[in-house]
Amino acid sequence: MAQNNIESTLHENRHFAPCESFYKSSALNPKNLDALYARAAEDHEAFWGELAKQELDWITPFTKVLDDSNAPFYKWFADGQLNVSYNCLDRQLKENAEKTAIIFEGEPGDVQHITYRMLHQKVCTFANALKNQGIRKGDRVIIYMPMITEAVVAMQACARIGAIHSVVFGGFSAEALKDRVEDTQAKLVITADGGHRGGKIIGLKNTADQALSKGCKSVETVIVFKRCGNDINMQDGRDIWWHDAEQDQSSECEPEPMNACDPLFLLYTSGSTGKPKGIQHSSAGYLLNAITTMRWVFDIQAKDVFWCTADVGWITGHTYVAYGPLAVGATMIIYEGVPTIPDAGRFWDVCARHHVSIFYTAPTAIRALMKAGDDIPQRYDLSHLRLLGTVGEPINPEAWMWYHRVIGQERCPIVDTWWQTETGAHMIAPVPAVTVTKPGSCTRALPGIDAAVVNEQGEALGPNQGGFLVIRKPWPSMIQTIWGDDQRYKDTYWPYFDGKYYLAGDSARQDEEGYFWIMGRIDDVLNVSGHRLGTMEIESALVAHEAVAEAAVVGKPHDVKGESVFAYVVLKGNRPEGGVDEEMTNVLRAWVADQIGPIAKPDEIRYSDNLPKTRSGKIMRRLLRTIAKGEEITQDTSTLENEGILLQLQGKA
Ligand code: WT7
Repeated sequence: MAQNNIESTLHENRHFAPCESFYKSSALNPKNLDALYARAAEDHEAFWGELAKQELDWITPFTKVLDDSNAPFYKWFADGQLNVSYNCLDRQLKENAEKTAIIFEGEPGDVQHITYRMLHQKVCTFANALKNQGIRKGDRVIIYMPMITEAVVAMQACARIGAIHSVVFGGFSAEALKDRVEDTQAKLVITADGGHRGGKIIGLKNTADQALSKGCKSVETVIVFKRCGNDINMQDGRDIWWHDAEQDQSSECEPEPMNACDPLFLLYTSGSTGKPKGIQHSSAGYLLNAITTMRWVFDIQAKDVFWCTADVGWITGHTYVAYGPLAVGATMIIYEGVPTIPDAGRFWDVCARHHVSIFYTAPTAIRALMKAGDDIPQRYDLSHLRLLGTVGEPINPEAWMWYHRVIGQERCPIVDTWWQTETGAHMIAPVPAVTVTKPGSCTRALPGIDAAVVNEQGEALGPNQGGFLVIRKPWPSMIQTIWGDDQRYKDTYWPYFDGKYYLAGDSARQDEEGYFWIMGRIDDVLNVSGHRLGTMEIESALVAHEAVAEAAVVGKPHDVKGESVFAYVVLKGNRPEGGVDEEMTNVLRAWVADQIGPIAKPDEIRYSDNLPKTRSGKIMRRLLRTIAKGEEITQDTSTLENEGILLQLQGKA
C-alpha cells in the first residue's frame, strides 16, 4: 500500500446548474432524492430490499436481503428466484409489445427497427436453439460477435436458459479469445462470419477458428451468424449456421427460474498483474442496479431514444445496452461501427436521424471528435438530445466544456459516471435534474452507495486530501468473485481495512462540497520530490493548451526527485519532425507550471501522431512507462489499436 497525502492540483471552479425544463420533467427531484439518501442512511439493507421488490419481478420472493456471513462473498436476495430475460422482455409485452426496443444501424448504413415483441421472439427462438445444441443451466457460452442486434439476442438467450455468457470483444485476438475459452471451459461459441468496422470486414469466424485450433478442448459447437457474407470455413460436426440452428425451433421458451445469486455472466478485465480476471456478476443484484441507475442517472423516460455507444464486449455494453435499457422498457440504438465512417460526423448523424435524446460515450471518443472540429457536429440537428453521459476515464475539463457547449448546446446536463467492471453499474454520478455539475468531477455517490476517500488506516480524509477510493458497504451489483479464483478476489479487492472496504484501485479526493474527483489509478500516481501528483491532472493541464489534442503522463525514475514527469503529447497540428520540438516543449512546460505549479512540469515531452490505446480506448500507461524508462518492451502489444506508433513513442521515428 503506497499512497497517502496525494496532492491534488486541479482546481476547477466552474459550476453548472440543472436547467429548469429538465427539472420539471424528471422523476427524481431534490425532494425524493433526499428521501432516497435518508432511507439508505437509516437502513441500508431495507433500502435495497424495497427497491428489489419494486423494480424486479420475482418467481419466488426473497426473505432475506443481504447475507454477509461469508464476507467478502456477499449474497444479495439469496433465497429469491427470478429470470433476468423475463425481467427485460416478457414484462414489456403487456404494454410495450409494439414499442421499438432496438434501432439497429450497421456501419454500411442498413437500419432495422425491432419491437419488444420481435425481440422476445428472437430471444426465445435462439434460446431454444441453444438448448437443442445441448446447452443447460450453468454451462458457459462464449460470445464473439460484432456490435449487432444478435449479440444482445445471444446474451438474453443465455440469460433465459440460465447459461453463463462471457462476451469477448470482437477486436480481441485469437490468443485473447483462446485464454477466455479455456478459463471458462465453455462448451459453445457464438460468433459471426464477420462484422463491419472501420470500413473493413473483420473476420471474426476466421479468428475464432485460429483460437480454437490452439486448444479449447471444451468447445463442442460453434454457432455462426451470417452478417457480411465473407468467405469462411465451416467445420463439419462442430460449426452450424445461426439460421440452421434456429430451424424448427419454437418462438416460445419458458424462462428458467434462477437463484438470485446464480451467475449471469463473466467478463474478463485486466488487472495490473497476471492474466485477465473473469469478473463474475450475479443475476438479481446486477439487474437491480442496472435498473436503478437507468432511472436515477439517465432519467430514462418512455419517449427517450437512448444510445450508449459502448460495445457489448465491455461492461458498459452489458449494463447499458444488453440489460439496463431493456429492463426499463426503453428504446435504444445499436450501432455497429466506428465514429469516423464515413467521416467524423457519423455519431451526430445517427443522433439526428434517430432522434437520440440520451447519449453516453467515452472521453476518448469525445476528444477525438473534438479534434475533428466544431463545424462537423454543427451540420446536424442535435436538438433531440437532452442528456449527455461519459464514462471510462477522468474527463478533462476542456473536453467536458466542448461536450457541453458544442454537443449539448449548453442545454443538456452532463453525467460523468464513475464505475468499474467490478461494480456492475454507476456508483458515483450526478442525478441530472438535481446535481450541480463541475467539469471533471463525477460528483456524488448515488443513494445506497457508501463511497469514501480514506488513508492507509481506512480513516476518511478531509476535503481535498487525496487517498484511496473505497466503497464501505456492499451493494447489489457488486462483483461476486473472480471466476475460479476466490483467493485472488479477496487479495485484489479486500486486501486492507480488515477486509471491510472494497478497494476500487483508484485514487481520488473529495472537495469541500463532498464532490469526488478521480485522480487516476493507484499505480498512476506520481511521486515527484515527495509530492504526489495525479497523472490525469497534468494531462488535463496539457490538454487545456490550445495546441494540444491529447496527452498522457507517466512517471520516470529520477535520481533526485524520485520520479520525474514524462509526457507524451499529440498536437492538434502536425507532429514535429522526429518527435522533438524544443520551442513547443518550453511553452508547454511553462504552461503546466502556470496551471499547476513548477513541480508538475514535464521533464521530457515526446510528440507522436497518436497515443497507444487498447481497442477499448484505454491509454496503455504501463507501456508508456516502459518506453519512458528506455527499457525494452516486453508487454503484449497485440491489443494495441495502432501498433505502428511504437517507434515514434520510443523516439526512433
Ligand atoms: C476504471 C474502470 C465503467 C465502465 C468503463 C470502464 C476509470 C471509469 C470513470 C470516470 C474517472 C473513470 C477508473 C476505474 N473510470 N469511469 N467517470 N471518471 N475514471 O470500466 O475497464 O472496469 O475501468 O475506469 O479508473 O477504476 P473498467
